[in-house]
Amino acid sequence: MNKGALALLIRGTTENWSGERWKARFDAICHDRRVVPIPEETIDPAEIHYAAVWKPAPGELAAFPNLKVIFNLGAGVDALLADKSLPNLPLVRVAVDDLTARMTEYVVLHVLMHHRQELYLRQSQREKRWAPKYQWAAGAISVGVMGLGTLGADAAAVLRRIGFRVAGWSRSEKLIDGIECFHGAAGLDAFLRRTDILVCLLPLTPDTRHTLDRDLFAKLNRDSPMGAPVVINAGRGGLQNEADVLACLDDGTLGAVSLDVYALEPQPQDSRFWSHPKVVLTPHNAADTDADSISRYVVRQIERFEAGGALDNVVDRERGY
Ligand SMILES: NC(=O)c1ccc[n+]([C@@H]2O[C@H](COP(=O)([O-])OP(=O)(O)OC[C@H]3O[C@@H](n4cnc5c(N)ncnc54)[C@H](OP(=O)(O)O)[C@@H]3O)[C@@H](O)[C@H]2O)c1
Repeated sequence: MNKGALALLIRGTTENWSGERWKARFDAICHDRRVVPIPEETIDPAEIHYAAVWKPAPGELAAFPNLKVIFNLGAGVDALLADKSLPNLPLVRVAVDDLTARMTEYVVLHVLMHHRQELYLRQSQREKRWAPKYQWAAGAISVGVMGLGTLGADAAAVLRRIGFRVAGWSRSEKLIDGIECFHGAAGLDAFLRRTDILVCLLPLTPDTRHTLDRDLFAKLNRDSPMGAPVVINAGRGGLQNEADVLACLDDGTLGAVSLDVYALEPQPQDSRFWSHPKVVLTPHNAADTDADSISRYVVRQIERFEAGGALDNVVDRERGY
């Protein structure tokens, strides 16, 4: 008997979302299971049992009557859950070591960039100005990581290893060796008060939208060697109130920001984020998805599911992540 087919609905526009690359990787490991890029290839929709997707159009997944599991090819499922016609089936998100390591690279790079005064030093170089400022040690800086899930917990552990004082904030209570853990609305203010560099790795949900706003920025610690606090957001653009970010940079509430994600992607040409001297902009590439490791992760889960095993990293639709 033929194995249920796997549909690929990949609607990303950047290089890492090349449909051909994903199709080739899945074909290489699927053997006798048909892998069907939609809409490039046609198939009886009833033959599709699994779908691996990135930003499918609303309604697209409702077309497969025998669909059993939806695999989102990224960690964040906010775009998918916005589709009100999304079939009520298990929805699996990505949690793989490769993606986690890439995000930790981004976080460490940007925390170190601000801690080591790189914006000032690059400007000095452009001006041929030899004017070093005192450089404090990592242990003088408190980093606060919002979101202590797959990505946040790993970044926090590596920052701790470098010598930063690290705290984390999550929805539920956590106990992590070497990390000061806060949780819930009741723990937020104390977490912010001790934070000099805030790293946001929250998922975008109805509860977290516009969490990063002026009220929150005003609660961050201003009494550190860096002076004004720094914010790094690699979660989702919807987590930040962008007018507040710019206003807080302009009036000194924030010293600098590193942003990987935006309300509008790609950023429009007239966005102030492109040229603001206190903004380090990256084009949503903090942690690219790797077709090799993620296709293996999806196929392993399909095989285990067909053998009667449980799926890993199933999204809780009530919580939104
Ligand atoms: N920029 C990029 O390239 C890129 C790449 C990959 C992922 N991302 C983003 O990173 C996000 C996080 O990924 P992940 O794999 O670490 O997710 P995850 O494992 O689901 O972790 C999410 C964390 O956020 C916490 N959280 C959720 N809602 C909260 C709330 N209302 N209040 C306080 N804490 C809350 C969770 O708390 P609990 O532990 O208590 O549940 C958990 O610690 C993704 O959703 C995605 O948007 C971005």
